[in-house]
Formats: sequence, structure tokens, C-alpha cells
Amino acid sequence: MKTSISNKEVVLGVTGSIAAYKACDLASRLVELGVNVLPVLTRAAQEFVGAVSFEAITGRRAITGMFEPLQNTDVEHIAVAQRAHLFLVAPATANIIARAAHGVADDWLSTTLLATRAPILFAPAMNTAMYTHPATQANIELLRARGCHFVGPGVGRLACRTVGPGRMSEPAEILDAALPLLSGRTDLAGKRVLITSGATHEPIDPVRFLGNRSSGKMGRALALEALGRGAHVTVVYGPSSVDYPLNAELVEVETARQMADAVVECSRNADVIIGAAAVADYRPEQASQDKRKKTGSPLTLALTENPDILATVSRERRPGQVIVGFAAETRDVMENAKSKIAAKNLDLIVANLVGGDDAGFGMDALRAAIVDKRGNSADIGHIDKDALAERIMDQVVGLLRGSL
Ligand code: C5P
Repeated sequence: MKTSISNKEVVLGVTGSIAAYKACDLASRLVELGVNVLPVLTRAAQEFVGAVSFEAITGRRAITGMFEPLQNTDVEHIAVAQRAHLFLVAPATANIIARAAHGVADDWLSTTLLATRAPILFAPAMNTAMYTHPATQANIELLRARGCHFVGPGVGRLACRTVGPGRMSEPAEILDAALPLLSGRTDLAGKRVLITSGATHEPIDPVRFLGNRSSGKMGRALALEALGRGAHVTVVYGPSSVDYPLNAELVEVETARQMADAVVECSRNADVIIGAAAVADYRPEQASQDKRKKTGSPLTLALTENPDILATVSRERRPGQVIVGFAAETRDVMENAKSKIAAKNLDLIVANLVGGDDAGFGMDALRAAIVDKRGNSADIGHIDKDALAERIMDQVVGLLRGSL
């Protein structure tokens, strides 16, 4: 099992606008989220961008014509129409909007738009006069009334050197609209989710630090899951071996104290705070200005306790704010989790056993149990981090609704 967006299929229809170059970024962001992207370029789109760019980004052969050679059942339009989870037309010209509104099926994209029952999202891009023309506005209204979705256009400087509505929305905005349609879930729409992730590095001297083995995989999975459900996501992350989704607001930190400052700042308007970071409990009391030399004798480092980030934000929690922590333990997992949920005043804690060979830090899976503040616990056992993210977010949604 994966997050509610990974491995889903998006047909990315690219039509003939100067904004077509931005569709490369969009394709790349979708691929990075684990989505399968099938690029479809209309003839006019190919005047602006090359199919090869999309093929390199998506790893799929781009569809560039209805009757091109090497057409096979995998890209046959009806098969694609039935298989796709979302049709995203970005940029969408006045022409494709008009043809879709009137059921014209005269190329691969327009034919497949007619054949699919998947959600359709248009990101219009055109000259202001064309966008505001009653014909275009009527076509958009017609498509909206039939259940199609639109994102943008934004107002800005257009390629025709005028300023006004018609500028294609930025890829991040388009993704915000696309991901809930792709996952079929919108249960975190309008919610702000703050996630801490990765390790912290506590400097000993300019070249050395105290750190831990956290990879950031759990935090990344949580961010993807929350984005897929329509949340606005902020990830405050320390050193990690994964890349975080560009569609989240990303705040990079190094030390526990930097993470604490960033989290306190971002927590003010968060509806949900999830502490998936492995925060160092202690830091060297005094980081040396110069590189420490070996002396031939044992070295003792004096350590000072770091602030507990989750305990700090939960002391100032807003009504309705949901706070979730993790308890990574090598033994007595449940007992430790139950005492932490009380000590840090959390709503939920994800207890996980670390130190084994098949689960934990740096791996794709872990052994977990979810415990709530009333003491209810669900032993989940060995689970993929992506699937665990989905379970956690289901519980978070329940808590936000007050039904758990
Ligand atoms: O007490 P312990 O470190 O085991 O607690 C783990 C949970 O508390 C995790 O959710 C972690 O992100 C969070 N934590 C924190 N600040 C710390 C230490 C841990 O927010 N200084």
C-alpha cells in the first residue's frame, strides 16, 4: 500500500501556449510525488516545447498524435481514458476549452477528454481579451456545470506584453488543486499541517556534530499524504537523506534549537502538528570555535538538554489544534509511549520499535502502534511508512472532526 496519490495515473495534456514550458516543472513535481504521468502534447504544444523533455522527465513515451506509429494498447485512447485517475490540462488554451465544452473530438487529447470519466482539471493560459471573451467564459461555465475543475488563471504580465488575467497558475498552485482530485480525498482541505522531519545535528566543533540515523522518510510520507488530502503543508526539517515535496512549504534547519524556533513560529496558525523528527535530546554545552585536536587522553563532552519542541507547542496549544508525536524505542514501547503522551500532552503518539533489521530508521517500514490520549491503542505491526502515514492521517482527520 502507498500514500493516496503515489502510483496513480495522471494524463498531463499540454496545449499550445507559451506557458507550456511550465508544464515541464509540473510534470517533474508530479513524478517526484510518485505519480505516473502520461504526457500528451497537442500539435500546437509541440511548437513550444519538445516531447523529449516530457519523456525525459516522466520516463514515458509522450503522445503526440492520434495516428502516430508505435501506437499500442497501452496508450490507446480509450484504455488511457478508463485507467487515468486525473486529466490535467495545463496549459489549457481557449481552443481546448472550447473543444472540450462542445464535445469536439478531433485529436488525441480532445477525444480522450470525451472518453474519460476521471476528474478533469484545466489550468487556463491565454491572452486577457481571449480569456474574458464571452465565448470563453461561457465555455468555462459549461464545463464547470458538468463537473470539470479549473485552477487560475492568475493575473500578471502576459507573453503578449499586456497585464491582466490569463497567466497560467504556477505549478505549485496547480498541484494544490490537482492532488485532492487525484487522491479522491479532500478531508484536510483548508487545514494547515506542520510536520517536523529528519535528524538534528548538534555541533561539537566546526566539522563535527552529534547526530542520529533519521532519514526523514516518515516525515516525507506524512507530507505527501497531507498534500494529497488537500492540506497546506509545512515541513521543518533537519538533515535528511530524502527530498521533501516542493509543494510543501519547506524550512530547513540544522540544530534542535533552530527547529524549535521554526516550529514555534509556524505552529501559531497550524491545525495539526506532527513531530516526526528525531530531535537530539542533548547538545554539546559549548561548541568549540576551532577544530578540537586529539590530546592522547579521553575526552569528556559536557551536554545540555535541548528544549522539547512538542511539549513546548502543546503548552501553548490553540483550541482544536491536534498534536501528534512519535516514540521511537528499543524496548518497553507501549509503556514509554503512554508516559510520553501524558508528559508532552499529545493527542496521539505513534510508538515504534527501532533497532531491528527490517524496520526503523532509514528503512521503508517500521513496527508501529498508535496510542491516543485516552489510552486506546492499535497495534499495527510491520508497516510501510507510506501506509502508516495514511493511517495516521485518518486518525488526525477523526480528531479534527472531534469524532475520536
Ligand atoms: O522524548 P522523545 O524524544 O522520545 O519523544 C519523541 C517525540 O518528541 C517525537 O515526536 C519527537 O519529534 C519529539 N521531540 C521533540 N523535541 C525534542 C525531543 C523529541 O519535539 N527535544
